Amino acid sequence: MSDTFPPGFLWGTATAAYQIEGAARANGRTPSIWDTFSHTPGKVEKGDTGDIAVDHFHRRAEDVRMMADLGVNAYRFSVSWPRVQPTGRGPAIQRGLDFYRGLVDDLLAHGIEPVLTLYHWDLPQELEAAGGWPERETAYRFAEYARTVAEALGDRVTRWTTLNEPWCSAFLGYGSGVHAPGRTDPVAALRAAHHLNLGHGLAVQTLRSVLPARDQVSVSLNPAAVRARTRSPEDLDARRRIDALANRVFTGPMLAGAYPEDLLADTARLTDWAFVRAGDEAISRQPLDSLGINYYQPAVVSAADGQDAGRRSRQDGHGASEHSPWPGAESVAFHQPPGELTEMGWSVDPSGLYDLLLRYTREAPGLPLMITENGAAYADKPDADGAVHDPDRIRYLHGHLSAVQRAIADGADVRGYFLWSLMDNFEWSYGYGKRFGAVHVDYETQRRTPKSSARWYARLAGTGVLPE
Ligand code: NOJ
Repeated sequence: MSDTFPPGFLWGTATAAYQIEGAARANGRTPSIWDTFSHTPGKVEKGDTGDIAVDHFHRRAEDVRMMADLGVNAYRFSVSWPRVQPTGRGPAIQRGLDFYRGLVDDLLAHGIEPVLTLYHWDLPQELEAAGGWPERETAYRFAEYARTVAEALGDRVTRWTTLNEPWCSAFLGYGSGVHAPGRTDPVAALRAAHHLNLGHGLAVQTLRSVLPARDQVSVSLNPAAVRARTRSPEDLDARRRIDALANRVFTGPMLAGAYPEDLLADTARLTDWAFVRAGDEAISRQPLDSLGINYYQPAVVSAADGQDAGRRSRQDGHGASEHSPWPGAESVAFHQPPGELTEMGWSVDPSGLYDLLLRYTREAPGLPLMITENGAAYADKPDADGAVHDPDRIRYLHGHLSAVQRAIADGADVRGYFLWSLMDNFEWSYGYGKRFGAVHVDYETQRRTPKSSARWYARLAGTGVLPE
């Protein structure tokens, strides 16, 4: 097996608008669902919000220079929908678009390829007031917003991603309620999943109609590497159910043009899926140029026995809630695999990434893969000299990148890797307490300090060779 990554491999870091930008009221930006949610007492640890975040809106140039020092050749970021189209409808705010135009120009000037995500969870609040993702109209609004951004930035951005982790938008946002908008209605979660699939398809159609043919269009999913605790038929069935709700609910329509029959059957008690109209699944299935995979940890499931009741949402790694993010899967329990954990309580297991890369190589032959997120939170602190050493993160990254190399050696066509995250930032309902950055941020002063993992990653990005 070669220790060298393929030529042309994209080495990047990733961020998302609400997690880093701050400037929540600048130039007519209005609240997104995450502004509303984070300002609702009890929703985010310590009452943290993205009002200021890491002030990237005002430190854009410095942050791009910092990336250039890291030697990366790509950067994955998202556009804040309410910053460019505050009500989610109608004309765009030019000054909002100008921010992203400036960002892209700075990146290109430093030889860094912009990889733009249209939707990383910040739905304009007005669209949520009109019903949000459970309503069909939101899918059409999303496609219109995609057109606005493509028309404004299509001359300089060539890599586009429609949605980031639609599973979280649908099932954490409308099912367990640990993400914005914080609703806890299993049917709304399934309706949201469908309208995200539809919005994705409509947006890809729109992007293709606006952008030059050479542009690359993709979506970033967070497929679960689901394992059954035992080989018993009950545990294997639990795995099948979670695989349907975590993975095939999106890849079914997006890649194969149909919802899986077993998903419809598993959820039939809740809904007849009449919100899926004839032709929707065909719209969701648009040719893509790559599939983005975000990976952090595998999931281990079994059939629930009496004792397991309630273990569901606590052990699935997606935050504590009395409401399950898994509609119709009350009979499934989640288990913490043995072994090392990150600061999120997530298990360190690169084999899950390997398995996913090989799975989608088999299931989507010919579709290149991109790891659009991978990384870990640790409790990093500056030492007496102000340096931040994070050997755990280096080990985490090394292990996962070795798994990527193994997958490539076994036939996976992996085109890039984006470390989550460029710098410490607002970790959603966990607030600022969880640090995923390769660069440390002092939230008092906004001072950025590259951690030792940043230097390690810079060497890798520069050489394409994974050190021993
Ligand atoms: C997934 C999300 O896309 C990102 O926003 C988040 O911070 C990381 N995973 C870590 O939880």
